[in-house]
Amino acid sequence: MFGATGDLATRKLIPALFHLFRKKALPPLFQVVGFSRSFLTDEAFRGMVSEIASRLPGSQPEEVRTFSQLFAYQAGRFEEVEAYQSLARRLGLVDKEWRTCANKLFHLSVPPRYYPDILARLSDSGLTKPCSDKEGWTRVIVEKPFGKDLKSAQELDALLGKLFREEQVYRIDHYLGKETAQNVLVFRFSNRLFEDSWHRDSVESIAIQLFETEGVESRGEFYDGVGALRDVGQNHVLQLLALFTMEHPGSFDAVAIRRARAAALKALSLLTESEAVSRTARGQYEGYRSITGVDPRSQTETYFRITGALALPKWQGVPIFLEGGKRLAEAKVEVTMTFSHPSPCLCPRAEAGEHYKNVLRYQIQPHESVKASFWVKKPGVKLELEERDLAFDYKHAFPEGSFLDAYEKLILDAIEGDQTLFVSTEEIMASWKFIDSIITAWQKDVVPLTAYAPGSIGPS
Ligand code: BG6
Repeated sequence: MFGATGDLATRKLIPALFHLFRKKALPPLFQVVGFSRSFLTDEAFRGMVSEIASRLPGSQPEEVRTFSQLFAYQAGRFEEVEAYQSLARRLGLVDKEWRTCANKLFHLSVPPRYYPDILARLSDSGLTKPCSDKEGWTRVIVEKPFGKDLKSAQELDALLGKLFREEQVYRIDHYLGKETAQNVLVFRFSNRLFEDSWHRDSVESIAIQLFETEGVESRGEFYDGVGALRDVGQNHVLQLLALFTMEHPGSFDAVAIRRARAAALKALSLLTESEAVSRTARGQYEGYRSITGVDPRSQTETYFRITGALALPKWQGVPIFLEGGKRLAEAKVEVTMTFSHPSPCLCPRAEAGEHYKNVLRYQIQPHESVKASFWVKKPGVKLELEERDLAFDYKHAFPEGSFLDAYEKLILDAIEGDQTLFVSTEEIMASWKFIDSIITAWQKDVVPLTAYAPGSIGPS
């Protein structure tokens, strides 16, 4: 675990491993070696792990102690050759003790500028080489951001490609690991109900919204060099779009699913400069520029809205609204499919322009639910219609605690060698192409950056 004392490790990875440990889902022979710059002994690192685990609800002191014994620590700077040699020696001892050639999963949760050093040194130490085709696989988990544009993503990919084959690379977009995101394919393809209407003849528009109430807080310096579109648009929002618009993959096979997601992303129409002007908006919340690490004259967006389109026969002409932002009125991630007016329609006053749409609201979080609005005749003497919901709510349907955290699922899948919920090279490149077409226009200042009040619905 590179970056073992960092924010992601302490907030997400160690808790996820603890939950997997409690569920007895980790392999019987298992060890985590934390690698970071801070000077810590094994004992001190285990102390840190214990502290994190003991704060988790329901944890018992005895299991926390046993869990922390799975951890060891290697201090080192990421460019320091000797540190990797010690790491290799340490892992060699583990192999001896276990009498095997252990599988190795390298998790890079460090800023991407360290990747070249880490990958080169790892390779030099011999650790990235499997023992054989059958024994001692090696894999790498790469966190986002995966580049900051198409070019840097290609460079990073080339770097990874020198050491690993695509089957060994696990690029994380943690949205794919969310239960509700995993459910999209089941919702669409294991039911007959909606999929037959899932195309341009019946769907009027698709909207994907990723709204956060939180601001940038302690991540000012990182965020100011990235902005909302790259931070959540290029990845989370577009991955949701891929899940909602992809073709039937034919099976649950990882290759087939990743290919189908990639095909949807490749169909995104790139925006010309004038289209960027008419179809995108960007905003920045008031007060953002005074956050530590943020340039006082920053032009970085904390909000975006795009009207996109997919050049696929199935979706031709269907507007796709993509929207995301920080410090908004509501924290909500939702996909809304609006179905078109039935035609012909048995609808009173339809000719007066009344629009009897059905709307499907698929909420990824925080209220994990699916709602489909439909029209009912209001009881009474008159023929009047009213919109009501058919609703499914995860929290009512399943017992508390049944949700697996995205990181639990993703770590487990990487151990098991299942790449379904990881992003392929093809998907990454297709999404950057689309995002680059917008950012290129934004950099020419043709789309104004509009200020919005924190806690509002974004720029008007
Ligand atoms: C991360 C972004 O990838 O996703 C953050 O860097 C964002 O800025 C976060 O807040 C949202 O993830 P979640 O799981 O909290 O919705």
